[in-house]
Amino acid sequence: MSQTINGQPHDRYALILYGSETGNSHDVAERLGQITERLHFKTIVTEMDDFAEKKIPALKVDVLRKASLLVLVTSTTGQGEFPKNSRRLWTSLLKKNLSPTCLEGLHFTTFGLGDSSYAKFNRAARLLHVRLQGLGAKEVFPRGEADDQHQDGYDGAYLSWAAEFQSHIQSTYPLPEGVDPIPPDVLLPFKWTHQIADAEIPNPQSSKPNSIAQDPPQRPPVPELDDDMKHYPPEDRTPDVPCAQLKEPFPAKDLSTDPILEDLLLPPIPNTYIAFVQSNKRLTPESHWQDVREITFSVPGTINYKPGDTLTIFPQNFPGDVQTLIDLMDWNNVADVPLKFQVEGCAAFFDKFLVPPVPKDCWMMPKSTLRDLLTVNLDITAIPQRNVLEILAHFTDDPTHKERLLEFSNPAYTDEFFDYATRPRRGILEVLQDFRSVKLPFNIVTTLFPVIRGRQYSIASGGIQKVCQKDYTKVQLLVAVVNYKTVLSKVRRGLCTRFLAALPPDANLVVHFDGECKFYENLDVKPKLPLILVAPGTGLAPCRSLIWERRELAFKNIDFGRHYLFFGGRNKDADYFYKDDWKNEHLKVDVFPAFSRDDPTGKKVYVQDKIREQGDLIFRLLKASAFIFVCGSSGSMPKAVREAFIDVIEERQGTGRREDAEHIIGLMEKIGKYRQETW
Ligand SMILES: Cc1cc2nc3c(=O)[nH]c(=O)nc-3n(C[C@H](O)[C@H](O)[C@H](O)COP(=O)(O)OP(=O)(O)OC[C@H]3O[C@@H](n4cnc5c(N)ncnc54)[C@H](O)[C@@H]3O)c2cc1C
Ligand SMILES: NC(=O)c1ccc[n+]([C@@H]2O[C@H](COP(=O)([O-])OP(=O)(O)OC[C@H]3O[C@@H](n4cnc5c(N)ncnc54)[C@H](OP(=O)(O)O)[C@@H]3O)[C@@H](O)[C@H]2O)c1
Ligand SMILES: Cc1cc2nc3c(=O)[nH]c(=O)nc-3n(C[C@H](O)[C@H](O)[C@H](O)COP(=O)(O)O)c2cc1C
Repeated sequence: MSQTINGQPHDRYALILYGSETGNSHDVAERLGQITERLHFKTIVTEMDDFAEKKIPALKVDVLRKASLLVLVTSTTGQGEFPKNSRRLWTSLLKKNLSPTCLEGLHFTTFGLGDSSYAKFNRAARLLHVRLQGLGAKEVFPRGEADDQHQDGYDGAYLSWAAEFQSHIQSTYPLPEGVDPIPPDVLLPFKWTHQIADAEIPNPQSSKPNSIAQDPPQRPPVPELDDDMKHYPPEDRTPDVPCAQLKEPFPAKDLSTDPILEDLLLPPIPNTYIAFVQSNKRLTPESHWQDVREITFSVPGTINYKPGDTLTIFPQNFPGDVQTLIDLMDWNNVADVPLKFQVEGCAAFFDKFLVPPVPKDCWMMPKSTLRDLLTVNLDITAIPQRNVLEILAHFTDDPTHKERLLEFSNPAYTDEFFDYATRPRRGILEVLQDFRSVKLPFNIVTTLFPVIRGRQYSIASGGIQKVCQKDYTKVQLLVAVVNYKTVLSKVRRGLCTRFLAALPPDANLVVHFDGECKFYENLDVKPKLPLILVAPGTGLAPCRSLIWERRELAFKNIDFGRHYLFFGGRNKDADYFYKDDWKNEHLKVDVFPAFSRDDPTGKKVYVQDKIREQGDLIFRLLKASAFIFVCGSSGSMPKAVREAFIDVIEERQGTGRREDAEHIIGLMEKIGKYRQETW
């Protein structure tokens, strides 16, 4: 962050707070932070609740007001809720004793991330925006809203919003004469670096960036590139073609197929358990293109998880891929010695607030080495953001590579970047294999590679299935392994599902239970209600958990309602998951399967077709106060299913008016009788 402008201290503060469940809002907040840093704001990007509670004992609005600019970025989760790491701030802002002028003088904007297939689209950001205005804060720039349904995901709305935000802020907060924004080809100072922990070990090879923003942090001296690293044989260089033609410059080595580590490293992540893999079973036949697995874990202790709860898995990189990176960057001499972190350029903010000592969620093991960090903590196969390519450009002596990398990172060439990285889903490791002249210093890896985020999986087991051997809890997941071909016909694998698929029985790994979900709310108190469960693919997981959980009620002599399960698979013989479960009459399941790829004419049959087919039954169930659950992939499914329910009501209710049917479904969503869990 810039502490001075033209050598003079200044008080342009930007505070960028995010609320995020799966990391998207965090990404957006960091990217906005780079914009404000380039406009010479002292910038802090942090979780909303970090700000509200941990570092500052209670939300002090006067502290908030010190920011010249406040940007709040939040997603909406659950059934229209705030992400967990933003709820304390939200509660603080709701305090009754706050005066309607207490945030006067504060200039703010908000950016929401949501999914328009949910009834309460972007609710959290909307509420925040209105509440801040209600407390006297002034909107400095209109709210932005991203929608997962956009073909480019949240970037679909973010990129244009951010560009307009940048020019608006630049004109609203003019810089002193003679001072320009930090240009994109100048590196911003890194927030963190790390060093060899043992001073006895000589500081390793490293390379120097060509330019860095004014007021760079003090960093230890780094030796020059060795001569032999500067020169690459001509065949290693990208052919001299314009950027647009650089589609597949080199056949990057495929990701490793070596096994994962036998003894997985166990990072010290708070609130986690060490789970042990009981079984890892492929449910689809080998001949079927899709690998869907049931993975069963046992976890020490008695954990009374509920339907809708998720298990978070923290994936690790494969040793072969880590070694490829180490070889590529010539890090072998430093790969296996312990490291320590160093916070760079982290001036106190508002005199109290410090950059955390390690990047958020980077749970390093004691005496962690570079190899450990690259295996456990950093996503070396992530698809890079544009600014990553910009950083790479500073660590090559090859003018052609430098030029290309800067082109990709130039906002004017969005299409080039999209064609090179986003569309073919090219990971950073592959980019480094394409641009072999790039030699990165080992100590900036946390700036370059994003921290690995845990992935949530809806728990597929429930009721009696939770019980395993004494003092252990059983947890089952139903996992679709992500494995697809890109537009360039390259196979891409999902980080976590690739890791899960390779997990051998008996492996130990770190897991986290997330149980703050409203999915099961009130069902214990109204057991007799019939439930309509719509579950294409792995959406079956939370529904199966729910069915087995309700089965438990019978053991307590409580009668429970029937389950009407609309399951969607591709082929009856390949992915009709748990069909034997439904033969168990005690579970009270009527199943209506829809197979999308069995019809000889090629006609797709989806769950919404079955819902329409069973319209009379559904209408009767809704009159009997049935709840509806829609689970599975987001995308077009939830909307199509909602439309089907509206059709069913429209055709059968007295008025025959569509808006009345829409109103009924809307009301069900509002009062929690229509619940959606899609990802
Ligand atoms: C609350 C919740 C519950 C969930 N429950 C389950 C569950 O029960 N079972 C389950 O399998 N998953 C579930 N998920 C999804 C899961 O968390 C992961 O997102 C998923 O397994 C992919 O993770 P990954 O690391 O393997 O893939 P990543 O490395 O994160 O890659 C996934 C990305 O790859 C891209 N991609 C994937 N397929 C294609 C394709 N065909 N074409 C183009 N691009 C593609 C998409 O951009 C996608 O976002 C759940 C998610 C949430 C939030
Ligand atoms: N582009 C992507 O991002 C993408 C695409 C697919 C899968 N995936 C991955 O696959 C995982 C989930 O896979 P999954 O097999 O459990 O579920 P799924 O891909 O959602 O498929 C389950 C069933 O739903 C059907 N379906 C597709 N579109 C539908 C719609 N609009 N309405 C109703 N049904 C529809 C599918 O049919 P058909 O396939 O025959 O149409 C299939 O029969 C996700 O975690 C995701 O990572 C990602
Ligand atoms: C379980 C779940 C519930 C969600 N609920 C909503 C919702 O009620 N309203 C909405 O607009 N988006 C909803 N979303 C979409 C997220 O807001 C969206 O995916 C966003 O990009 C996530 O950002 P994050 O990673 O910062 O949490 C939901 C997503 C999931 C996985």
